[in-house]
Amino acid sequence: MEEREISQAVIGRLPRYYRYLGELLSNGVERISSSDLSKRMHVTASQIRQDLNNFGGFGQQGYGYNVKYLHTEIGKILGLNVNRNFVIIGAGNLGQALANYAGFERSGFILKGIFDVNPRLEGVSIRGIPIRMMDDLKAFIMENNIEIAVLTIPKTKAAEVAQMLADTNIKGIWNFAPTDLHLPKEVVVENVHLAESLMRLSYKVERYNEEHME
Ligand code: NAI
Repeated sequence: MEEREISQAVIGRLPRYYRYLGELLSNGVERISSSDLSKRMHVTASQIRQDLNNFGGFGQQGYGYNVKYLHTEIGKILGLNVNRNFVIIGAGNLGQALANYAGFERSGFILKGIFDVNPRLEGVSIRGIPIRMMDDLKAFIMENNIEIAVLTIPKTKAAEVAQMLADTNIKGIWNFAPTDLHLPKEVVVENVHLAESLMRLSYKVERYNEEHME
């Protein structure tokens, strides 16, 4: 496939296409028109055509999209065609909840290790994976080909731990701690802030209430 710059907005929409196409595939659907996909996804057919044309050659006039091909190609763009090993750092409420979620594996994200500083957690297993102490983290990352670290530790510890991770061969940090991390560009950071999502919901609820006020 031809390599070209794809806008961040399009990339932001790809996981959703990937999910819908995955559902179609598991329902045995082999091809779909942009208008059918548009109805399912509640986005305009022209948006779908524009987005998917970025990658060229997926759709054919009068045939629609080959679901399996499109799913595979979007998967490749998202880097989902290979498994990625990850560790969770911080085995508290959130870290344990994420560790308990088996769904990441279906997308190729393999949880290899869970780390914490609390000695009372040492050896406690989550889905068969024992919680290890932070002293073992660096060696574990090297020995287990770990690409991604999930940070679910207190905000006050995040910068220090992230800096330590930057000195290993970690490629990406999925940061849940509510603080911005400043790291060398070799380490990619994706922040997740559920509270921000909740605030956006609150905004919409507020607008709705205003519009429906007597
Ligand atoms: P928690 O207190 O239950 O768990 C934190 C864990 O981190 C504890 O087990 C603690 O021993 C461990 N820890 C502390 N320092 C550490 C270090 N230097 N290295 C390794 N482990 C260390 O807290 P909870 O509720 O699980 O939250 C974790 C983080 O996630 C917090 O920063 C919180 O603000 C954030 N959070 C973010 C959300 C989001 O949407 N981004 C949602 C909920 C929590």
